[in-house]
Order: sequence, then C-alpha cells, then structure tokens
Amino acid sequence: MALLNILQYPDERLHTVAKPVATFDDALQKLIDDMAETMYEAPGIGLAATQVNHHIRLIVIDVSEERNNLLVLINPQIVEMDGKTTYEEGCLSVPGIYEEVERADHIKVQALDRNGQPYEISTGGLLAICIQHEIDHLDGKVFVEKLSRLKLQRIVQKLKKNQRKTM
Ligand code: NI
Repeated sequence: MALLNILQYPDERLHTVAKPVATFDDALQKLIDDMAETMYEAPGIGLAATQVNHHIRLIVIDVSEERNNLLVLINPQIVEMDGKTTYEEGCLSVPGIYEEVERADHIKVQALDRNGQPYEISTGGLLAICIQHEIDHLDGKVFVEKLSRLKLQRIVQKLKKNQRKTM
C-alpha cells in the first residue's frame, strides 16, 4: 500500500466531475487500499477519489470510533433525502478550516461495493453527513463553496497564508 497525495483547495482539479467506475480490476483494488491507508493516516473519516486526483466515482469512509469499519462506496446515488441538519465540517483538502454546513438529516444511498455488488444504506447522523460531503467531491464541489462569498474569500486568504509558512 502507499500513501497518496491529497489535493489542497483551491486546486482546480478538485472541481473535476468524476466518471462512473466501469471495471473492477486489480488497479481499482489497489487504489481503494491506498485511499483507505491515506484516510486513516491523515487522519480523516472520509476520502473521495477526486481528492487524490483520480476522477472516478469512488469513496472510502470510516466514521467508527475504533477505525475498523471501512465503507467503500462506488458509483453512489442518493435515492432519498429527509430533514435538515447542520454540522461543523472539515475536509482533508481544506486543512484547518471547520465551518457549519446544512445537509439532509437522513439519506438512503445505493452503491456498489469493491467487488461491484450493489447494496443500499439508510442512515442518519455523521455517516449521512459524510456521504453527502464525499459525493459532493465526486461532483467537483468542496464544502467551503456552500458558504457565503465573503467567508469563502477569507478562507482562501487564510489557506494561502498557511501554505506560505510551510516550506
Ligand atoms: Ni472533503
């Protein structure tokens, strides 16, 4: 396994819309393992392929306390959404920034597992929020873009300042 480089906002490649996964070959299995390792190492609770510059519809998530419940979602589709909730979100592509974002409170998602087998999850809470955040990545959207323009400008300035400091 190998650690992958995570694209940092405002990298334009984060705005790429990912294509559906069509082949479940060894290269895909390796990418899934590498993404999981990268997410655990970071540490984060979710990572979309977009963030490691692979523009296919693949997400890894683990919201468990024990960090032993890896969830792989391929070609995920939200088929039901209910209610509203807000949560202070962060993102491995936007280090050090945490902001309240509004999302659906409960979702039903259909996806394929790493072997291409279809499954469905009906969930709320942090998992529902995380799945919505990661699917946004596949659609080329980053959570800070849901904020006001002024707030987003401040965040981009802050991120650029931080990047200058780390040489
Ligand atoms: Ni993110």
